[in-house]
Amino acid sequence: MTALARSVDAEGGIDSCWRQGAPAGMSVSSVLFTGLGSEEVTADRLREAAGFAALQTSKAPRLVVALADSGDDLKAVVEGTLLGSHRTTKHGKPATQAPPEIAFLGHLEDAQVHYAVVAAEAVWRVRDLVTMPPNFLNPASFVEQVTQMAQGSSIEIEVYDEKRVAAEGLGGINAVGQGSLNPPRLMILRYQPAQPTRHVALVGKGITFDSGGLSLKAPNAMVGMKYDMTGAAVMAASTLAASALGGSIAVTAYLCLAENMPSGSASRPNDVITIKGGKTVEILNTDAEGRLVMADGLSLASALNPDLIIDIATLTGAARIALGERYAGLMGTAEGVAEIEGAAATTGEKVWAMPLPSELRALLSSDVADIANAKPGEVLGGMLLAGVFLREFVGEGIPWAHLDIAGPANNSSSAFGFTPKGASGALTRTILSVLTS
Ligand code: BES
Ligand code: MN
Ligand code: ZN
Repeated sequence: MTALARSVDAEGGIDSCWRQGAPAGMSVSSVLFTGLGSEEVTADRLREAAGFAALQTSKAPRLVVALADSGDDLKAVVEGTLLGSHRTTKHGKPATQAPPEIAFLGHLEDAQVHYAVVAAEAVWRVRDLVTMPPNFLNPASFVEQVTQMAQGSSIEIEVYDEKRVAAEGLGGINAVGQGSLNPPRLMILRYQPAQPTRHVALVGKGITFDSGGLSLKAPNAMVGMKYDMTGAAVMAASTLAASALGGSIAVTAYLCLAENMPSGSASRPNDVITIKGGKTVEILNTDAEGRLVMADGLSLASALNPDLIIDIATLTGAARIALGERYAGLMGTAEGVAEIEGAAATTGEKVWAMPLPSELRALLSSDVADIANAKPGEVLGGMLLAGVFLREFVGEGIPWAHLDIAGPANNSSSAFGFTPKGASGALTRTILSVLTS
């Protein structure tokens, strides 16, 4: 093999592959070498390299993967290969290529294979949901899609339509959704094991399209805003996966679904709304809509007094500026942050802890409401300011983690590791890890 690799000048850099016809006597048609880089070969690196190889072999009907033969390394190779085997098809067209049959050299416990398959399926589901065009995916059809995925599972589903959203006092979701012909929804997923060891509440931002509302985005900034429901997709897919794995942690997921559109019935800057639980918010920028729907979700989650609240949202452009497209911004209580950091260390996903400076709270003061949703003209620390806003709606003493995934939700450049161009499904495996550990 080494000689064969030399003969094709395989240098072995990260995210590089070399393909070569198999030498006589081998029962495969071609051999693909995938680069591992020059640093220490870790399970994380193997996961990425296996995934990159799988992404490059989109036409192969069968793969034999021989990158590791046991333990955590093999587990990572299996995960990476599955993550890289997802194919995006053109909307409404049949898939041109079935997923490959994959064989691995070495031995893994059945439970480990099962976990890898379920985790990869969750990531695939997020990618598929996020990729759906926003004229096909709106709050109501998001509910339909997730309801279909939950068929046959033990998940209990409850859905509030726009009337119920208003009646329940979910003023944030109502205000963001009221300008659209596609009315808002709150979708609640409950996974209740027989003897729960713990209760985790999840909140996901599900803006199926973010035009900015009356604070309309510029044309170029609006492109890509179908991705604004990624948080809800991540929480739905990881809750379904946790139930498929039969974990012992109870999960309640709040998916805050709305389409943010301008119209005669849209929210205006200076409107004052009441979030679930009674706090009032002056809307100063209708494009800071994510924190409004998340505020309702966090209040609902807090009322359950769970052991942990995790929220995830494509919340701020500032998170992309600060951390780029590979790191999620992580904020929250010390306990919540540590929990996510621990989980991300096992999945290899990239998170970076950020502060929630209390002095920023003054920027959100309002003369007519308890808090404003933005400070017009303020450009500094936008990711942190959004986190400081959300903190107001988290119950005292509840461990809480907030993930701003505006960067990693979408890979706007070319494929790297197991991550294709477009919707990534990033952080789904980390949430699942928290729900199953
Ligand atoms: N959905 C956006 C954040 C976003 C921007 C995600 C770019 C992915 C890529 C969010 O609703 C938003 O518009 N945030 C504003 C907040 C501002 C008005 C305070 C932003 O970041 O500009
Ligand atoms: Mn917005
Ligand atoms: Zn948004």
